[in-house]
Amino acid sequence: MKFPDGFLWGAATAAHQVEGGNFNNDWWDWEQIPGKIKNGDTSAGACAWWKGERYRADFDLARSLNHNAHRLSIEWSRIEPREGEWNADAIAFYRRVLGALRERGMTPLVTLHHFSNPRWLVAEGAWETEAVLPLFERFVTRAVQELGDLCDFWITINEPNVYAFTAYINGLWPPGKKDFRLAFRVLANMVRAHATAYHAIHRAQAHARVGIAYHIRALYPANPRSALDRFATRARDYFFNHLVARALQKGKLIFPLGLNTRVPEAINTQDFLGLNYYFSSRIAFDLARPAELFGRQLPHQLWGVSFEKDLESWFGTGDIDPQGFYGTLMWLARYGNGIPIYVTENGIGDARDEIRPSYLVTYLAALQRALRDGANVRGYFHWSLVDNFEWIEGLNFLRFGLIANDFATQTRTPRASAHLLAQIARANAIADELIEKYGYKDRSRPTPTHHRNRQTIASKKFRRRG
Ligand code: FCB
Repeated sequence: MKFPDGFLWGAATAAHQVEGGNFNNDWWDWEQIPGKIKNGDTSAGACAWWKGERYRADFDLARSLNHNAHRLSIEWSRIEPREGEWNADAIAFYRRVLGALRERGMTPLVTLHHFSNPRWLVAEGAWETEAVLPLFERFVTRAVQELGDLCDFWITINEPNVYAFTAYINGLWPPGKKDFRLAFRVLANMVRAHATAYHAIHRAQAHARVGIAYHIRALYPANPRSALDRFATRARDYFFNHLVARALQKGKLIFPLGLNTRVPEAINTQDFLGLNYYFSSRIAFDLARPAELFGRQLPHQLWGVSFEKDLESWFGTGDIDPQGFYGTLMWLARYGNGIPIYVTENGIGDARDEIRPSYLVTYLAALQRALRDGANVRGYFHWSLVDNFEWIEGLNFLRFGLIANDFATQTRTPRASAHLLAQIARANAIADELIEKYGYKDRSRPTPTHHRNRQTIASKKFRRRG
């Protein structure tokens, strides 16, 4: 089972989760509010990339684990700490970070917005108003001008759907609002900002490759025979999984409540498709949750999977579902009609690394099946390189690292999974014995909702790229 030549192998990180010392954004403010973050943890130290320049040692480890690429994000609030003011130290820092990757022969993939916002932008309404569009465009242009000799591979915005849902529907992230209309406005502004940024990046760097990172979950009705469960699943599937992707395809966000928004500038603004895929979910109809489109996500189960481990070790937020991963890749392949796909995140919070080895091997085997069936997948970035600040879960509850981190001493210890991925990356293949050792027999499963809606995703409008 070989992967294509030139396949990118690596891990992903985000600025606020690894750098530490990010005191100028909305997340830092959120962390100061009692009860928002588990255990009262903060991101102050994180993985000491900023103060201790620990990224060098982490990239050494990544290189020794056969990574040939790394995805990271740059922090807007560092680069532009006050509106229109550019910080030379921050730019120099990111030049050192990207330079460190290049010295190690690793391809950088840079995300320009990964959840956190400068405090000054929040004061102006952040993503709730159109005022963000020229501001984001100016930041992105500046970043590409400053860093473009070191990187030409960009993600504009990470997971607009997760941001809108968690910050504006369930209110768990800053600004902690619960407002369906506002969530929609945020999504629309993110789509438009992506489109604007796409063109700005190409103006600054003609050969750039630019995309967005989708978060997609395969969804299943809790009871496939219940019309209400099927309705709730389809509704969530449309709004959570499809809305942004379709807007970039059709040039409009199609929405009830008279909120339809035309975004013609968003058509043809993806040189590649980024996919963050973790789990699938089962959705049950729930009249008490209108803001969540009458859908309730059932507690996870290791559905279709023969692991017999206690669940406390990983605090997953969904069902382990390599088949859903395969189906999602095939869905994206049809949607993108040949555009390269990169898995920009995939992983599991498993401090004791009990489930991760099987998760890794079976998901990569699913990826390989998608390749065999024609999906143009060009790379895989595991979330994450090293245990880091996992948003409201803080430092301890969800440890996603291939490499364990003792936050008190900043001591790194690669987990068994890190060596497993290293072995696969070196061979650019999954050896049969790994499948035998870690794989499991997938039982027959229902088809997730979106995989049935083929007509909604096939499009000839997308450019074919190499
Ligand atoms: C994704 C985020 C990433 C990390 C993982 C676990 O949704 O993009 O920052 O929190 O989940």
